[in-house]
Amino acid sequence: MKLLIMGPPGAGKGTQAEALVKELRITHISTGDMFRAAIKEGTEMGKKAKEYMDKGELVPDEVVVGMVKDRLSQPDCAGGFLLDGFPRTVPQAEALDETLQSMGIALDGVINIAVPRERLMERLTGRRICRSCGASYHVIFNPPREAGKCNTCGGELYQRSDDNEVAVANRLDVYEAQTQPLIEYYAGQGLLKNINGDQEIKKVLTDVLASLK
Ligand code: AP5
Ligand code: MG
Ligand code: ZN
Repeated sequence: MKLLIMGPPGAGKGTQAEALVKELRITHISTGDMFRAAIKEGTEMGKKAKEYMDKGELVPDEVVVGMVKDRLSQPDCAGGFLLDGFPRTVPQAEALDETLQSMGIALDGVINIAVPRERLMERLTGRRICRSCGASYHVIFNPPREAGKCNTCGGELYQRSDDNEVAVANRLDVYEAQTQPLIEYYAGQGLLKNINGDQEIKKVLTDVLASLK
């Protein structure tokens, strides 16, 4: 399956993606995770991206589009993929359509996780991420078995540098201005699956899987 998962910052894209790619045996492509990996490696692209990310701004379209094009051409994407956090602007969506068309493939569905804005701040400021495998936790809503340690790989948990109140507020504004229009875009293509993300993590997953049947 070739899928896309969208929704505001903190909607649970990464959390759901982790479970979905296991269940559907497809490749997870998160542009946010790719940028964080580039930052960790200290590449030029990573350094540039960090300036935008720490402020909660979008990295320029041409940088993201080039990175995703490369990623989609890799062999592990041939069996299906789940794009998480891309596209985020109409030009990115148009570039994706073009790329997929040139590869002779098409999306099977777009999962849109909806959560009221007032819930997102507490989800993001309480989030903790595994430094080794990238798994997402929450100090209250999804705590690890042992504080500060990843359940699956034992890695150290940390707080993302853009999960502070100032950056989150900007990320939410940027989402509403630039990414929300994609809901209409994909509804127009008949691909949109609207999911209520303001439920328990397991219930959200059940609803997503049911929407793909
Ligand atoms: P990115 O990493 O994609 O961040 P984001 O879109 O802001 O989304 P998040 O990862 O913060 O949230 P999520 O929906 O994955 O939530 P999660 O599952 O972790 O992008 C970061 C930055 O990179 C961007 O700001 C931009 O600068 C740049 N970038 C990336 N892609 C780009 C692009 N295409 N173009 C330009 N720039 C780009 O869950 C959040 C928390 O809530 C966790 O603690 C989790 O445990 C908890 N939680 C999850 N589900 C539930 C639930 N059902 N109930 C209670 N708690 C829950
Ligand atoms: Mg994420
Ligand atoms: Zn881990």
